[in-house]
Amino acid sequence: MQVKEFEKQLQTDREMIGRRLAVLLPSEQELPVSLHSAMRYATLGGGKRLRGILCCASHRLFGDPYPQGSLDAACALEILHAYTLIHDDLPSLDDDDLRRGKPSCHVRFGEATAILAGDALQARAFEVLARTEAPQERVLGSLRILAQTAGSLYLVGGQVADLEGEGKTATPELVDFIHLRKTAQLIAASLGIGACLAGCGAERLTGIMAVGRKVGYAFQIVDDILDIEGSEDLMGKGLRKDSKRGKITHPAVFGIDGSRRVVHELIEESVAAIRDMGDAGYLGQLFSLIGKRVS
Ligand code: IPE
Ligand code: IPE
Ligand code: MG
Ligand code: MG
Ligand code: MG
Repeated sequence: MQVKEFEKQLQTDREMIGRRLAVLLPSEQELPVSLHSAMRYATLGGGKRLRGILCCASHRLFGDPYPQGSLDAACALEILHAYTLIHDDLPSLDDDDLRRGKPSCHVRFGEATAILAGDALQARAFEVLARTEAPQERVLGSLRILAQTAGSLYLVGGQVADLEGEGKTATPELVDFIHLRKTAQLIAASLGIGACLAGCGAERLTGIMAVGRKVGYAFQIVDDILDIEGSEDLMGKGLRKDSKRGKITHPAVFGIDGSRRVVHELIEESVAAIRDMGDAGYLGQLFSLIGKRVS
């Protein structure tokens, strides 16, 4: 796939997801106005939409039988992701005031509303996924993937380990534990849910989720690197905070150059693996972009 064609498809996917998200979230006029305004504020008008795009792309890779279903599943992933960002920024977690170039949800709406907007977004994500247009057993399989990913064994467990890790000695085992749970699994789930809704079968589902874990791990390592040397303007969030808070990051264990090498290896392996699964270049180029991103 040519670079131009890739960029056009990427933009189309991103815009489609943004437009559909605006329809799938309750309007700001819906009572309580504060809650629905906070939900829309945190979800719309920003974000790379990476998880949603991965879901749509994986669905296309396996035949795209229910385009509307995969678009709604992509939105469910983005809605769930938006909840994790609201809670991640709270004073009792990372205490960050800026997100997607705007004041964080709790800064704009207050802490109580932000917590509850996160709760409501998580519920809405499952509702949207449950209503997707696809055979029931595929929808059920997708719900299972998302529920497992969002729970204590992955996302929430990873966030707890991240917070409990503050100030501890960074080891390769601990950074693996945290990054695979707090970030990589949702990226694996994004590819997995797209594949599952397309009816890809158990073996290929396991395969694509394994690729997703690698890409997702690389994604979080790049986030750690960008916290050290990225631009706040491009990232739209406060940087240079991880080491101040004593966070367990990949560069804290392996150094920036060591982390860059690992990203390179993970992305190379993932691009090769997805090519073997039939990718004509869209996912491969997306993975490469994840390795090179600056925002
Ligand atoms: C930020 O995710 C949280 C991490 C897992 C590092 P993204 O960088 O994908 O955030 P948005 O959606 O583009 O804002
Ligand atoms: C975020 O990790 C992971 C989740 C939101 C689950 P970070 O705490 O590193 O993400 P940023 O840097 O705040 O976006
Ligand atoms: Mg965090
Ligand atoms: Mg954070
Ligand atoms: Mg970070």
